[in-house]
Amino acid sequence: MSNGDVFADIAGKYDRINTILSLGRDGAWRRTAISRLPSGRVLDLGGGTGAANPDLGERHVVVIDPAPEMLARNAGADRVVGVGEALPFRDGSFDAVFSAYVFRNLDSVAGTLAEIARVLRPGGKAGIVDLGRPRGPVAARVHRASSAVVLPLVGRLAGAPDEYRYLHHSLDKLPAPEEMFAAGPLVLEYTWRMGPLGFVYGAILTKP
Ligand SMILES: C[S@@+](CC[C@H](N)C(=O)[O-])C[C@H]1O[C@@H](n2cnc3c(N)ncnc32)[C@H](O)[C@@H]1O
Repeated sequence: MSNGDVFADIAGKYDRINTILSLGRDGAWRRTAISRLPSGRVLDLGGGTGAANPDLGERHVVVIDPAPEMLARNAGADRVVGVGEALPFRDGSFDAVFSAYVFRNLDSVAGTLAEIARVLRPGGKAGIVDLGRPRGPVAARVHRASSAVVLPLVGRLAGAPDEYRYLHHSLDKLPAPEEMFAAGPLVLEYTWRMGPLGFVYGAILTKP
């Protein structure tokens, strides 16, 4: 099952799955990053169904996502079908880029970071939130063992076993954010952790 298929298939139940999985905390985790972003024109990269729209407030929101089925449910933003690795926008045309629960699904993190750096104005900020593993090796091991048991069970209850299996594996796909964002081209300002054992991270990056 490819990334695109996952989100095309679950578009109708995506918001419910997200809420179950995060025990209702997905919105609060998004807001920790949104509250640190400037006003103006913001790109919601992988914005899907538009769950972030109410929290982006008065900002002018442009959303890009490869799944038309997700975008069809996203009212209230300028919608563009496309991927983070090839943004169809002018250089320096955004004050901020926001991206929640997307980075694990990218084909290329480096390619997407280069594109975010290109479309941000100098001094513009990117706020990224995603799921991964807790920082310490012991906590990461405990979390991995728990999610191997819990996620298939939740998946069966939610009627989406394949998607939950995909999620379990995706949590180990990327390095920790401190390592992943260290190479630039954006400057990593800081990261923070949320959720049980800190398996959710937030990061703020600035365009020099
Ligand atoms: C877990 S959903 C998150 C949706 C939304 N950001 C939220 O907070 O609810 C992941 C989204 O990333 C999108 N996506 C997958 N690959 C992508 C890519 N290469 N570039 C941009 N978005 C992508 C999916 O279509 C999906 O809508």
